[in-house]
Amino acid sequence: MVKGKEYRAEWECPSNIALIKYWGKKPAQLPLNASLSFSLKKAKTKTSVSITPASRRKVSFMFEGQASAFTERIENYLANMSLEHDWLNDFSFKIESWNTFPHSAGIASSASAFGALALCLVDLKQQVNNRQFTQEQFFQKASRWARLGSGSACRSVFPAFAVWGHLNQIPGSTDCHAIPVKGRFHPDYYSLRDAVLLVDSNKKQVSSSQGHELMNTHTFKDARLAQVNSHLFELLKVMEKGEHARFFELLEKEALSLHALMMTSDPSFILLHPNSLNIIQRIRDFRKQSGLHFGFTIDAGPNIHLIYFEKDKEVIHQFVEHELLSFTEQGQWLDDGIGNGPIQLTDEGV
Ligand code: DP6
Repeated sequence: MVKGKEYRAEWECPSNIALIKYWGKKPAQLPLNASLSFSLKKAKTKTSVSITPASRRKVSFMFEGQASAFTERIENYLANMSLEHDWLNDFSFKIESWNTFPHSAGIASSASAFGALALCLVDLKQQVNNRQFTQEQFFQKASRWARLGSGSACRSVFPAFAVWGHLNQIPGSTDCHAIPVKGRFHPDYYSLRDAVLLVDSNKKQVSSSQGHELMNTHTFKDARLAQVNSHLFELLKVMEKGEHARFFELLEKEALSLHALMMTSDPSFILLHPNSLNIIQRIRDFRKQSGLHFGFTIDAGPNIHLIYFEKDKEVIHQFVEHELLSFTEQGQWLDDGIGNGPIQLTDEGV
């Protein structure tokens, strides 16, 4: 560390959409089960962090130029991280963040937010210690640090597909951080797209964190763990072989299982909206009618992610515009797809 010096890092990190869902966790934000996702291309958070030496850490956080309620979560995150990473106690933090997607979009903004923040922190650690990590070490560390902010964020720091959680079938997989899944799947899956249909932008009545907690005492906890492990095991094989019909069946079973778990929690809660069901029905009807391979997934909210292949983009866009937009909030949807992972916006090497 150079005395009195200011250090700065800036990263852009995408959100991700889970095909196999993380739902339920153990202390230290470790997952009850392994999950699989792909990073998005357009839905991203851009974050810059400047740090200056200080005797007591102060945190200023601005989101899109304004003070934000997220500040407290970031302060708690940094306080927590500093228990293990003492250097975080020696600086004050000026953090600025922007999203490329609207606030109400129902895209997991905590995934891209903590992904981008963790990437900046690992970058700063390199600068402060004047020591370069290897690429693998860098992103592994960023994934681990992102996980401590929000579980699903650990999958966002990798391009395309990432697995988080230990699974015997995937060498190197661990609960501590996500790992990229490279070159394993049928080429069609590298052209997946995600039409995010915005059904309802009202604040969720139950947060993901509360939902995860309800899994600890859930009547179906053991059954869910058996189910999700078998879904992931089968999905990996299906994606290797390119069995598209089964891929979308499994995708939808995962999404509906997640919401079934919410409905049968104690207390029970429902995040789906009547229009979520209308969209699901239309998707299934049009799949039958068109004979194309596509389907839906859903995160912890009412919005529907219509997942399809790039080659069907024109037909699917017409279908969205003619048949689905009337079920969305003010005709809002986001046209996204599989992406290439985070980008460093400052010129220091990784
Ligand atoms: C339904 O990562 O938002 O999107 O770890 O408490 O921040 P925390 O939860 P979060 O949970 C996301 C759950 C999910 C499924 C998934 O992304 O795997």
